[in-house]
Amino acid sequence: MYVEPVNPAPRPVTVPALRTMKRRGEKIVALTAYDYSFAALADAAGVDLVLVGDSLGMVVQGHGTTLPVTMDDMVYHTACVARGLRRPLLVADLPFLADADVGTAVRNGGRLLAEGGAAMVKLEGAGIRLPVISALVAHGIPVCAHLGLTPQSVHQLGGFRKQGKTEAAAAQLQADARAVQEAGAQALVLESVPDELAAAITSALAIPVIGIGAGAGCDGQILVGYDIIGLTPGHRPSFSRDFLKGHDSLVDAVGAYVQAVRGGEFPQ
Ligand code: KIV
Repeated sequence: MYVEPVNPAPRPVTVPALRTMKRRGEKIVALTAYDYSFAALADAAGVDLVLVGDSLGMVVQGHGTTLPVTMDDMVYHTACVARGLRRPLLVADLPFLADADVGTAVRNGGRLLAEGGAAMVKLEGAGIRLPVISALVAHGIPVCAHLGLTPQSVHQLGGFRKQGKTEAAAAQLQADARAVQEAGAQALVLESVPDELAAAITSALAIPVIGIGAGAGCDGQILVGYDIIGLTPGHRPSFSRDFLKGHDSLVDAVGAYVQAVRGGEFPQ
C-alpha cells in the first residue's frame, strides 16, 4: 500500500512553470539570497524564484558597485543557496564580463548550473549579448535577461538611474525586450523603468517580466533580500520596503512580502 508522506517535498518551480504562471495571471514572487540560511527562509516563506544576484558585491562584500564580483564568488554563493532550497527556482547572475563572448559565457553559465546548482542564469543587456543568449539556450542553459537599469553598466549610465524616460529610450527598451525574447531568453528582469513602459513591455511579451522599481504591471516582483528585512546599511532604494516593520520574525517578514506581491498590494 502506498502511504502519502507526512511532509511531501514541494514540487519545485521550473523554468517552463514561470511562463504558465504568467499565462494564468499568477504573480511571480522573487527575492535575492546569498547564503544557505536566508535561502531556506525564502523557501519557507513561499518565494517562487531565488536569485543569487551579483548585488552580493554590494550587500555582502561591501563594494560600491557589482563590478568586482568574480565567477568563483558567484559559484560559491550559488552552491550555498542551492543547499537551502527545495521549491523555488534558483537563478544566478553571470557577473561583469563573464558573458563577454559566446565561449566564455557558455563555460561560465555551465559552471553556475553544474557547480552551483542553478537552473537558470541571468545576464544584463541586449545588442551584443543576443548571440550569447542564443548560444547559452542552445547549450541547455536557460537565460533570464535583464534590461533597464543594468548595474554592470553603471559607469556608462552615469549612476544608478531610472532608464527609459525619453521617448527614444523607451522605444529602444521595447525593441531590446522583444529582441531578448526572440534570442531565446525565458524570463526578463526589468529594473528601474517607468511603470507604464514596464506594463507595456509586460503585455507585449510572452515570457514573464519580473520588475524591480518598475511598477505593479509586471508579471512578478524581485527585491534584494537584505533590503526587505532592513539589513542593508544606509540608503534603501525608494521602490523597496522594510517588511520586518510590524513583524516579529524574519520568516513572517518575508512571508508578508510574498503575500503583498501575490495579493497585488506591493508595489503600490
Ligand atoms: O544583482 C541583483 O541582485 C539583481 C536584482 C536586483 C534584480 O540583479
